[in-house]
Amino acid sequence: MNHDKVFQLINPIIEGYLKNLDSKGIGKSLDPKELRKYFSYSLKESGQDDLATLEDFKLVLNSSLNTLHPHFMNQLFSGLNPWSMSGDMLASLTNSTMATYEASPVATIIERELIRHLCRFIGWEDSFDGIMVTGGSNGNLVGLLMARNKLFPEIKENGPSKNNTLTLTAFVSKESHYSFEKAFNLLGLGLKNLINVETDQNGKLLTQDLKDQIQKSRKRGETPFFIAATAGTTVLGEFDPIEEMAAIAKQEKCWFHVDGAWGGSVLLSKKYRPLMKGIHLADSMSWDTHKMLGTGLVSSFFLTPHQHALRHSHAGRGGGSDYIFHESEAGAWDLGPSSLQCGRHNDAVKVWLAWRSLGDQGMEKLVDLLFHNARTAANIIKQREEFELLWDPCFLNVCFSLRNIEEYCKPEETLKFYQQLRQSLMASGKFMINMATREGVTFFRLITAHEKQDANIINDLLKEILTSANSKYI
Ligand SMILES: Cc1ncc(COP(=O)(O)O)c(C=O)c1O
Repeated sequence: MNHDKVFQLINPIIEGYLKNLDSKGIGKSLDPKELRKYFSYSLKESGQDDLATLEDFKLVLNSSLNTLHPHFMNQLFSGLNPWSMSGDMLASLTNSTMATYEASPVATIIERELIRHLCRFIGWEDSFDGIMVTGGSNGNLVGLLMARNKLFPEIKENGPSKNNTLTLTAFVSKESHYSFEKAFNLLGLGLKNLINVETDQNGKLLTQDLKDQIQKSRKRGETPFFIAATAGTTVLGEFDPIEEMAAIAKQEKCWFHVDGAWGGSVLLSKKYRPLMKGIHLADSMSWDTHKMLGTGLVSSFFLTPHQHALRHSHAGRGGGSDYIFHESEAGAWDLGPSSLQCGRHNDAVKVWLAWRSLGDQGMEKLVDLLFHNARTAANIIKQREEFELLWDPCFLNVCFSLRNIEEYCKPEETLKFYQQLRQSLMASGKFMINMATREGVTFFRLITAHEKQDANIINDLLKEILTSANSKYI
């Protein structure tokens, strides 16, 4: 079977799927037991003919969730820029690795151009470096790794066991993403040495507590080395005070990382970039464009103003120079040495095509529109007596609850009730929205990451929630 024949077979199916994206809805979420019965997944000893494989293709496509639909509000992404979709297809068609310039010449130049462009929005014009990573979690890991290797190069060489007099501590807010825990685990830094800093009631890191925690850590004989701000917290969407934290990091001689996986894209908007005031003072930043800009999973950047520091940090004993990274003019363009991966997917072209299509201005408009949609959602919820807006959103996270929950369930059953309510919405295939529990309070977290999430959609969602809440079936 040739590629063009497969394309001929799938092309009309893809076309039909894309034409009906809006009317199709999200699709029903089936539980694993049901979904396993839905069709056969088992891999067989002998192959099958192309029409049977085409059926498999259709089944997977039609039984997967349609996250391009504006009713998908569950995660910190929704929708997909159509040019990004084409970019992912292009990456598949050309099927190469980003490890070397020679294997992906055009895409390497594109990725470097994207890094340069994003760094400009941060304010790093003359000195900058970066790499596309597998997600914000990976970006946070790279930030910690770079910090440790830059500040304590001897640990990189000797391992922690020969330096056991040194206990390195890092400071993140208690609302920070759990990926810092994973990274700490992976780097063998000891989970207890990742210190959670208190926040105010909106989830913004309290700088006084940061200073106190650092002093306490020093008194315990530890060595503070890393401070991270979150720009757009996962649940409430709050922005930590970057400028003040940068000053503390400088004074304490700590690496200052900003986790902008979710909120980094506010830098594209003149109106909202003040949320990240002081970002140019950071030592590194994670930024997922797939979250707010619809550039397709995964499109994620790790950026730093420290030129060449990435490859220096990642370098082992020169591994790879014997067979893959050849010294030449072209080899100097290789991105592989700056990455934790060897083989790496081409994620750059899908971001680049979306950006070429929209330009900086289109991107800015998109960011402003998503903020507008969040405000609209918040105002609608505020006006409804059945609901309570729990925090006035400063970003795209709109957190709300049912006002008189005791009318629906016993107080001790609130969590279970929300779980069932959410399940019921998902089973209907009408809406997908997430929930969270913070300080004992359970609530819905609505994310307005899709440009089409207008007032009508929010009103429909609220209606659907009430219908489910009042249904005897949940
Ligand atoms: C603040 C924050 N940082 C990091 C991440 C992790 O990003 P990724 O899912 O791309 O690994 C998330 C994910 O939601 C996040 O909200």
